[in-house]
Amino acid sequence: MDRLEKLLSQMSVHDKIGQLTQYNAMLFTETSAEITGPQQKLGLTDEDLAAVGSVLNFSSVQEVKDIQTAHLQNDPNQIPIVFMMDVIHGYRTVYPIPLALGCSFDPQIAEECSRVAAREASADGVHVTFTPMVDYVRDARWGRVMETCGEEPRLTSALAAAQIRGFHGDGMEKPGNLATCVKHYAGYGGAEAGRDYNLVEVSERELREYYLPAYKACLDAGAPMVMPSFNSLNGVPSIANSMLMQDILRKEWGFDGVVISDYNAIGELLPHGVAADQKEAAKLAFENTCDIEMCSSGYFHHLESLINEGVFTMEQLDAAVMRVLKFKDQLGLFDDPYHGADEKLASSLFLCDAHREVVKKAAAESAVLLKNEGLLPLSEKLSKVAVIGPFADEHGINGFWSAHGKNEETTTVFEGIRNILGADKVVTAKGCGNLWDDKDCSGFAEAVEMAKAADAVVLCLGEPQNYSGEGNCRTDLRLPGLQEALAKQVIAANPNTAVVLFNGRPLDVSLLDKIAPAILTMWFPGTEGGSAAAELLFGKCNPCGKLSMSFPHNVGQCPIYYNHPNTGRPRWRSQPDHRGYASDYIDCATLPLYSFGHGLSYSNFVYSDLTLSSKTLTSDGSIRVSVKVRNDSSVPGKEVVQLYMRDLVGSVVRPVQQLIAFEKLSFEAGEEKTVTFTVTEEMLRFWNMKGEHISEKGDFTLMIGHADHFVLSDAFQLV
Ligand code: BGC
Repeated sequence: MDRLEKLLSQMSVHDKIGQLTQYNAMLFTETSAEITGPQQKLGLTDEDLAAVGSVLNFSSVQEVKDIQTAHLQNDPNQIPIVFMMDVIHGYRTVYPIPLALGCSFDPQIAEECSRVAAREASADGVHVTFTPMVDYVRDARWGRVMETCGEEPRLTSALAAAQIRGFHGDGMEKPGNLATCVKHYAGYGGAEAGRDYNLVEVSERELREYYLPAYKACLDAGAPMVMPSFNSLNGVPSIANSMLMQDILRKEWGFDGVVISDYNAIGELLPHGVAADQKEAAKLAFENTCDIEMCSSGYFHHLESLINEGVFTMEQLDAAVMRVLKFKDQLGLFDDPYHGADEKLASSLFLCDAHREVVKKAAAESAVLLKNEGLLPLSEKLSKVAVIGPFADEHGINGFWSAHGKNEETTTVFEGIRNILGADKVVTAKGCGNLWDDKDCSGFAEAVEMAKAADAVVLCLGEPQNYSGEGNCRTDLRLPGLQEALAKQVIAANPNTAVVLFNGRPLDVSLLDKIAPAILTMWFPGTEGGSAAAELLFGKCNPCGKLSMSFPHNVGQCPIYYNHPNTGRPRWRSQPDHRGYASDYIDCATLPLYSFGHGLSYSNFVYSDLTLSSKTLTSDGSIRVSVKVRNDSSVPGKEVVQLYMRDLVGSVVRPVQQLIAFEKLSFEAGEEKTVTFTVTEEMLRFWNMKGEHISEKGDFTLMIGHADHFVLSDAFQLV
């Protein structure tokens, strides 16, 4: 008999159910002899806690070791606890938020960042991270856009696969690596009105076309766990949604790994109003193959009776437990329950030079130069630079999900610029705060005087890091507080003002776009954010990020995204002044302020000579499309060459453009390269009305370039 089967045969039903539960570390470290607080609320006995198979949200490696040791001293089955945590954009050394990493268009960087996080978190006792988060998004109001890689499924899929490679390293069983859990399956990013946890209503065709591919890509990349989302999808919460959980995940995709609920998501089936009581909630989740219940207690209280009553069989219970045991085995926990947790190693890795270097590079390559009328880069010869604004010397730039990252360990823009120019040439003033209700303009006068006296101003604005992330949605995407008023006065006082933004979502920066000569978004860049910003501003690095999510002109345009299908009354780019009965607004442009793929450079990239190797594509063949890209400047730089296609006529309305490939390349000053992509039939497929993933014969065009400059191909035909 196999080792795990033998183990399973020795376990009581209560032991088995314990493997299907996860609770906060705090429940295991309370010292009181009486059952109080959360344990009491959950109705858990000490016997229940002794049987629990996994733990989340611990604060130190010592805590992990203590919980594991105490558990193994008492567990008759000797099944180690698996420790999980949200390691989303770094552990102690923090890298840019995922939405920013999306702008790097660079899987290699995403992989390197995940390695940094994996090494630190693993040494600190973490076995599994609840990442990648690959929810497809179109609405900047939703606070969790910061956790996603944006509005493009192929880009998201490529970066998520890279993150998985980085976390798994040379094997998730080895210390130094983490296992991953893809989330939130499915459609969470489609929350109506951009309000967190809100319902999601999308057709199955839309779901398959835009929302599902990235989750599937993560499974193909080897993610061993899946977390269903909080939201109801087309009427039924994901965890109880048989189409999602059984039909697609388990049957169609053949996923046989572990499904874990989101935090209290089983408990939330009651307020959702699809379960009358906790027992029904447990039944719904278990029949939809949720293996581990996170932070509610329906399984402990009701799974055994559901089996005794014949609702579930012992085989079903055993199958779920076996998935968990196999996973623990895959992680090597039976051989090494501590998985290399090592306090000394952890502290030698935290913020080490090598890790800082990776996160700094990531911050520089994720920043997007939104606008530049020749002001940037600034000269290092300037004799006085004023760094102004609520983010000028602000350390809170890690972003919402930065695990054990500490604000005080980041570099600020002020510090970064001082390091380049020297302390005597740089002055700073806050000007105003960045909260909604900050109405104090008493710092304006100092800021304006400082701006007047400086050769150039770096104006650092944005939203606080806790204005995005889970539960932090907004109905107004403008800069909070008095920041717009400050910007007007500072820019009037000194037109050589470059704005640097810190933001967890695309913001409405229409006003800045009108009045500021240069705008650089750093998003939330992490530990080395301030140094990276300074190096970009002074041309020590050349910006190369491209937007992973469109910036609307204003909140009224949301949801807005580049790959939208056409209407019968489109407003063509070529007819910007056309007015009338078109799919349009009368008070605002139709297109975003800055679209997906937009991002400037200090180099000037020119595209020309697009050629196709053939005018016809057969279903088993391919076409090569080439374009010349020249760096028409004296500045070396990187360019993300983007290939889009358009299916001119389809049985369903097709997007006006769709990214099908991209490549990021380095260019010396004046260098020209011929970039070639291969297009195959598979890249032209879409979901039709019959639920088939197919391509249709007919004409297609290709566009190469980016949001500001495309070269178009002649049509080619799929035959
Ligand atoms: C979030 C998840 C996260 C979980 C555990 C939930 O509130 O939705 O993304 O993984 O908490 O921390």
